[in-house]
Amino acid sequence: MLDFSKKRFFLAPMANFTNAACRAIFLEYGADAVVSEFVYSRAVLSKAERVLEKLRIPENCRPAGIQIFGSDPSEMAEAAQFIEEVFSPDFVDINFGCPAPNAVCAGAGALLLKDVKRMCQIVKKVSESLKTPVSAKMRTGWDKSSIIVPDAAVALEQSGARMIALHGRTKVQGYEGEADWNLIEKTALALSIPLVGNGSAERLGADYMHKSACSAFMVGRAALGNPWIFRQLKARLENGAERCFEPSARDRAAMALRYAKAMAGGGYQNISPQNIKFIQTQVMRFLKNASGFKKLRTNLKNVKSLSDLEGLLCEYL
Ligand SMILES: Cc1cc2nc3c(=O)[nH]c(=O)nc-3n(C[C@H](O)[C@H](O)[C@H](O)COP(=O)(O)O)c2cc1C
Repeated sequence: MLDFSKKRFFLAPMANFTNAACRAIFLEYGADAVVSEFVYSRAVLSKAERVLEKLRIPENCRPAGIQIFGSDPSEMAEAAQFIEEVFSPDFVDINFGCPAPNAVCAGAGALLLKDVKRMCQIVKKVSESLKTPVSAKMRTGWDKSSIIVPDAAVALEQSGARMIALHGRTKVQGYEGEADWNLIEKTALALSIPLVGNGSAERLGADYMHKSACSAFMVGRAALGNPWIFRQLKARLENGAERCFEPSARDRAAMALRYAKAMAGGGYQNISPQNIKFIQTQVMRFLKNASGFKKLRTNLKNVKSLSDLEGLLCEYL
């Protein structure tokens, strides 16, 4: 489905962060593929503008997958068909890992880790309804006493999945503790389709990545506010020289402003009070852990418009 002739690095889908503006930047900065934030199949079928906005793939923003979640195979297939027709993603990704109450209460996301039969029915129905390749993103199991990989991943392949992304933590672990890379490797070896390994992948060494049975690695939280991570990881894989991609204060400030502008639709108008709050939080991520921004971080709270933000950042630009 994608070119896996060498190891690839994916940006993980992260709701409320990996919006279209962010995905475009990450692709430009070296991510090999991106996946949109999860959207409920029923919400897709509502065709509400605020939902469609999340699914839209801007020009030059590929390879891109669109991720959906749900529990009903027919509804999922209908939503996927609509997505294929309107947005032509490079792949449609099905979420079997989200622990958030809105997914679990809908009988979907990570709850389906308890029902592999239903996971397979969803993948089969969606795959049979599309020309576009279908992938699945899953966790290792609900908890450590109910690990379902590699068998469940093999069953998804047999049901039509063309790629699996495996987060090496259980639902109960959430985002805490170590990801189980032994289970990820075991699963990659059991599959004939590509496996994308996920779970603090930024900690993997070059030797490990070279020898891994994974076709790609997916980076989540380490990429928040840090698009440079992809160049760093590629440099680590190729020649162990990742530090040459350490961003300067100017790089960070310019990136923060670029991101904020993209979030505001490229202009200084159309910026609502809610939007500026959201932008403040995101901009903070680009400046976190970097020296020299202490005063700016305090002043950021008082920013009311993009021009205010530009004013604050200009001393670094
Ligand atoms: C804020 C946030 C939002 C997330 N949203 C999604 C989502 O919409 N779909 C999904 O499959 N995973 C989602 N995830 C999980 C990530 O894609 C990834 O699997 C997880 O963070 C583990 O990777 P990491 O250890 O590199 O962070 C989210 C994670 C975070 C932290």
